[in-house]
Amino acid sequence: MPCRTTIRLYILSHDPITRFFVMYRTSIDTAFGDKTMQSLSTELLNWYDRERRDLPWRRDPGETADAYHVWMSEIMLQQTTVAAVKSYFAKFTKLWPTVEAMASAPLDDVLKEWAGLGYYARARNLHKCATVVMTEHDGQFPRKEAELKKLPGIGDYTAAALAAIAFGERAVVVDGNIERVVTRLNRITEELPGAKKSIKAATDDITPSTRAGDFAQAMMDLGATICTPKSPKCLLCPVSSHCQALRAGDQETYPRKKPKQPKPTRRAVSYWVTCGEHILLERRPAKGLLGGMPGLFSTLWESRDGFPKSHEVERQAPVSGPWTALSGVAKHTFTHFHLETQIFHQELRTLANVDGGFWARKDDIADVGLPTVFTKMVSIASAQNS
Ligand code: ADE
Repeated sequence: MPCRTTIRLYILSHDPITRFFVMYRTSIDTAFGDKTMQSLSTELLNWYDRERRDLPWRRDPGETADAYHVWMSEIMLQQTTVAAVKSYFAKFTKLWPTVEAMASAPLDDVLKEWAGLGYYARARNLHKCATVVMTEHDGQFPRKEAELKKLPGIGDYTAAALAAIAFGERAVVVDGNIERVVTRLNRITEELPGAKKSIKAATDDITPSTRAGDFAQAMMDLGATICTPKSPKCLLCPVSSHCQALRAGDQETYPRKKPKQPKPTRRAVSYWVTCGEHILLERRPAKGLLGGMPGLFSTLWESRDGFPKSHEVERQAPVSGPWTALSGVAKHTFTHFHLETQIFHQELRTLANVDGGFWARKDDIADVGLPTVFTKMVSIASAQNS
């Protein structure tokens, strides 16, 4: 429809002229009778068929995706960007091409390959989930949301995403991108997290009964590429005529969020214990933050008023002193706190046995699978003491 295309071209900014044309466009849509939920999903799916991102776990429209691939990608994508996930997805599916292979892999290998992706509980659950699928589901992921939710590491979002994307079930999928798109489409002013219920209901209203998986991924792609947090590209949006926020000109203000409590900063000391070509590492306790991962011995990550004093540094050390403070502070942010770490060094003369510790060669440190918080410390320490 050339007239519509012309109108669309006028939607260039958020100024009053834009709003006038959006309202004009909307009145034309209404006259054509297509401003319905169905037209929204149809317009979005048509756009997705032309413009969708080419991602390694996706199949062409109409083709069934591999449930193992969809599951793997969804677990990896929790709290991590698509760009960061791609290489891990390629590595994991090469090392473990099936759920059976993943279930048979030693957990330590999975944790080691996961290093750098963060939130290590996800890797433990990935492995545990694969074993449950093998032992309790005959190696096949269940296709219903309620059954999927019983599996380790699969919450509301992942169960809905898997049911829709891998099995074509009608499920209502809401992630961060979709929250943004839906709050703008409906001008939901309620603040997150309280608004989650209204957002889910509004997403339910527009989810089609067929192609729910493509619809969810189309919403994600729209959020990632067009309906972005800052400077959304409304001119290019395939569903701009349905967008109440665009009509009001306040699209950038959504989703509304309750102000976050600032994260506290905790301070600790880590121990850089060397012996010639070797470094002393520990295996962290299985439960808790970075559970089961290798790392440098450290004082407890609890001090809230300054770095630990020298008597604490001595008391919590894996071997007795003397210690030399290296310069620099390693900074890392976890979900609930910032961590700043000073590094104390000691060179030992023999590769002594240390409770809970093991020695790694300096040359092999990149292959140990150290979480990022420790690789930051290693960079600081090895620059001063290689
Ligand atoms: N984020 C989470 N799941 C996704 C998917 N299937 N496609 C794009 N982004 C995503």
